Amino acid sequence: MSPYKFFRPLIFKFDAEIAHNLAINFLKFMPNSATLFAFNRDYENLHVRLFDIDFANPIGMAAGFDKNAEVFATLAKFGFGFLEVGTVTPKAQSGNDKPRLFRLDNDEAIINRMGFNNLGVEVFLENVEKNLSKISIPFGINLGKNKNTEDALLDYLLLLKKFYAKSSYITLNISSPNTKNLRDLQKEDQLDLFLSEIMKKKNELNMRCKKNVPILLKVAPDLTREQQEKIAEIVIKNQIDGLIISNTTILRPQNLQSKFVSESGGLSGKPLFEMSNETLKNFYQFTAGKIPLIGVGGISCAADAYKKIKLGSSVVQLYSAFVYQGFGLVEKMKKELSAMVAKDGFKNISEAVGSENLS
Ligand SMILES: Cc1cc2nc3c(=O)[nH]c(=O)nc-3n(C[C@H](O)[C@H](O)[C@H](O)COP(=O)(O)O)c2cc1C
Repeated sequence: MSPYKFFRPLIFKFDAEIAHNLAINFLKFMPNSATLFAFNRDYENLHVRLFDIDFANPIGMAAGFDKNAEVFATLAKFGFGFLEVGTVTPKAQSGNDKPRLFRLDNDEAIINRMGFNNLGVEVFLENVEKNLSKISIPFGINLGKNKNTEDALLDYLLLLKKFYAKSSYITLNISSPNTKNLRDLQKEDQLDLFLSEIMKKKNELNMRCKKNVPILLKVAPDLTREQQEKIAEIVIKNQIDGLIISNTTILRPQNLQSKFVSESGGLSGKPLFEMSNETLKNFYQFTAGKIPLIGVGGISCAADAYKKIKLGSSVVQLYSAFVYQGFGLVEKMKKELSAMVAKDGFKNISEAVGSENLS
């Protein structure tokens, strides 16, 4: 029995946010105890090269777990191929009123309406600088806007400048459902202007830092096909480096069983799998495989990760399954994924990208 199966009933007795904070504090203050549960085996057929960066494997931790970049150095020891921290906003903010995080145990899902609670740019930067040298895997920083900021672009530009030289890639999160009007940035007229200004700043920073940091856009799973097509067009036009597909959904599939189903916020975990896959599949077709996609949403085992890769993801991320299955999950997935790739006759997992999504 994995040690997490033993601890889980105890952890799940706590309110979801308290349990999350306990986990963060455990990783933060007892990194050595935490790494007693750590494993990190290397599988050559899972090595991926993307954005001119080497990934030891394609399984990453999604944004939102380590919002303040406090524990990523410890997280790196659990076998992840890359990590994404944040969402960070320029100013510290407390987020929405509690309760705002709900575990839907029977559905292996989570609903959150955290609202970008975070300690702000200065604390975040300090944490990154303190811990960055301890990790050797790609490290992405996820940017958002403060609740009260009227001109969202200014927040993203400020953060981009602050973190450009510190990260392997930058994610523009314009798809959280818990910040009012944030998703409007995905609309055609706003998105084009927004991305062109971001890329102008990127080019400036590129020259100054002599470093080409990929800029990725994270989108919602709740877009119509027409919206997806438009976004793909604008992303290509502005030479955005990649897309993360997807954030949480505001929809509630019919078959959810948990008592928390009618809580508002973004749903993640197993019930998001099909919906985010559909979005991924469409974006792969709309971008004609021209830009890398990172698939996220409902991955809970190696077969799920492999499915997203076959639909067009170059690498994948997860969050909710880590809550339900714990520290051993990534290592187990790597072993199984490596075997699946070999069984299908691929020398390397990159050969499988998009293999089930040819239009
Ligand atoms: C509690 C919680 C907080 C999250 N916070 C963020 C966030 O700050 N920024 C972000 O881009 N995504 C955030 N997400 C979304 C995840 O990064 C991911 O896109 C989503 O959970 C789908 O993946 P999953 O089904 O594997 O959890 C959050 C998810 C959860 C469950």
